Amino acid sequence: MCGIVGYVGDKNAQDFLVSGLKRLEYRGYDSAGVVTFDNSGKATLVKAKGKIADLGTKLVSERREDKVGIGHTRWATHGEPSEVNAHPHHVGNIYLVHNGIIENYKELKNALSNYEFKSETDSEVLAALIDSFYKEGKYPLTNAVVQALKLVQGTYGIAVMSDKNPNEIVVARAGSPLVIGVGHGETLIASDASALLGHTKQAIYLNDGEVATVTAGSVEIKTLNAEPVSAKVEEIETNLAAIQKDGYEHFLLKEIMEQPKSLKETLRGRVDTRHGMVHLGGPGLPESELRKIKHLVIVGCGTAYNAGLLASYYIEQFTPEITVEVVVASEYRYRQAYIPKDSLALIVSQSGETADTLACLREIKKQGIRTVGIVNAIGSTIAREVDGGTYVHVGPEISVASTKAFTSQVIAMVMMGLTIAQAKGVRSSFLKPYIEEIASLPEEIRKILEEWNEPVRALADKYKEYDHAIYLGRDTAYPTAMEGALKLKEISYIDANAYAFGELKHGPLALVDDRFFEFALLPDGQLYDKAVSNVQEVLARGGHIIAVTNKKEFDLEVENVVKISTSAKLFAPLLMNLIAQLFAYYMAVAKGYNVDQPRNLAKSVTVE
Ligand code: AGP
Repeated sequence: MCGIVGYVGDKNAQDFLVSGLKRLEYRGYDSAGVVTFDNSGKATLVKAKGKIADLGTKLVSERREDKVGIGHTRWATHGEPSEVNAHPHHVGNIYLVHNGIIENYKELKNALSNYEFKSETDSEVLAALIDSFYKEGKYPLTNAVVQALKLVQGTYGIAVMSDKNPNEIVVARAGSPLVIGVGHGETLIASDASALLGHTKQAIYLNDGEVATVTAGSVEIKTLNAEPVSAKVEEIETNLAAIQKDGYEHFLLKEIMEQPKSLKETLRGRVDTRHGMVHLGGPGLPESELRKIKHLVIVGCGTAYNAGLLASYYIEQFTPEITVEVVVASEYRYRQAYIPKDSLALIVSQSGETADTLACLREIKKQGIRTVGIVNAIGSTIAREVDGGTYVHVGPEISVASTKAFTSQVIAMVMMGLTIAQAKGVRSSFLKPYIEEIASLPEEIRKILEEWNEPVRALADKYKEYDHAIYLGRDTAYPTAMEGALKLKEISYIDANAYAFGELKHGPLALVDDRFFEFALLPDGQLYDKAVSNVQEVLARGGHIIAVTNKKEFDLEVENVVKISTSAKLFAPLLMNLIAQLFAYYMAVAKGYNVDQPRNLAKSVTVE
């Protein structure tokens, strides 16, 4: 997702803009730019393809003491990564940075025939549209922005300035987050609160359809229909330490290794092992309503989807007569799916800003279905639009590849299921093993990470020349295999795909040859022997198998085995996933790739 920053106050604007963009660079981008203004409105616009370091190099010779400006990191949607396509865009008196997609930009561009466009972007068209209203002189900047936005179809988070009145910044959002930091004699703008840390803890989260006029000492918010909106100042919950690497080489390893702590935060105050109960306020429903739930719809993308699929296997085990449907948000939003009235929808999203997931949430709410968020980012759009919610509280997840959020999303959804099961009167003796094992997981995770971090680094090194991989699992190990394959593909670019063991014979077995290695998950349990038979089918065809298992008696002649020792049985796949996370991490390191910002990807996909 692109990054937006803005500053108006009494300090150096260039310094805040560059440091703020650095805080957002984890979200993925391919070019960056800033513009600042002196009191006379003289603009200094500097843009660079590549990284913020490249922008910094160009800024050395463009140093200004300006006190106001806006900046942007761009993740290319319309138009290739280049300096001319980078933001801020400058048209006439207008300077603009934009997150999102203007879907009707072509027709708007055709109507702006008196403008000459330098870039291929939809954002430049929006800047020209605003300028076309502004230069008439009838409108102050805010109104010119509103007039333009009323013609726009699509999503946006924008910050706009004019060189005729360089002491104010106009911001607006529809589908792409913006937060306003309230300081002493200064006001800051960002697309993510992490850019404000160290400057202020007071934030105003803009809502869709709102436009704010920001100066050093004021924030005035209205709707597009000019209705005043009272600014709600909230405390930013995270802190600077949470967005530093703490001595790790990459955020990804830090986030893998902090899972004992982050899961503890997810469980805090929610698990009562003494009484074999969980206490989850998330659904925000009385027990009488929870009892009526007959159908769960779990919605997510990528890792969030995988977490939902894994959680669904557990929920089915202990909630009688409930059907659980897990859907990919980008597909579900366009299906004509009927959702029974006695349903509960779980909306799963680490960032709380994923466009497809947010769109599903809005569609599901239109059907009158109660929605509950399983979200990490406090104050995010999804967190604010669901009817109820359970924050997973893992702290900022900076690396594009999601790890600690996955583990906590699974457990949060399992606790949601346990909450429903409790309301339905399922015997606590039946639920107790799940609850006791959940409570033991932080320590079990700690032990696995401590024991296997180094051996998995060596293991990854043995397989770094491969370009293809097959991940395999049955039952709860199948969604886990899917998550492991996603991790490997997204940071090591190896073509890794997951299959249910039982599906091998229906096609994928044809793939097995020396181009592939197989990453097979074999949790101890009732399906273990079936998984062993499947592994033997692969072995018989010369498979290069890495087996991950908690079965003490495992003795197959595979190429490598990771035999984890854990007291966990039900949630052993979650612990096996730690091996897959470490394996993917060390594979990306071995290949010398950008582990935290893999190519082509963004941390939060706020466009379709
Ligand atoms: C996972 O490692 C990826 N970064 C990606 O699949 C991610 O899970 C997906 O984009 C959903 O993001 P969200 O949880 O913030 O909605």
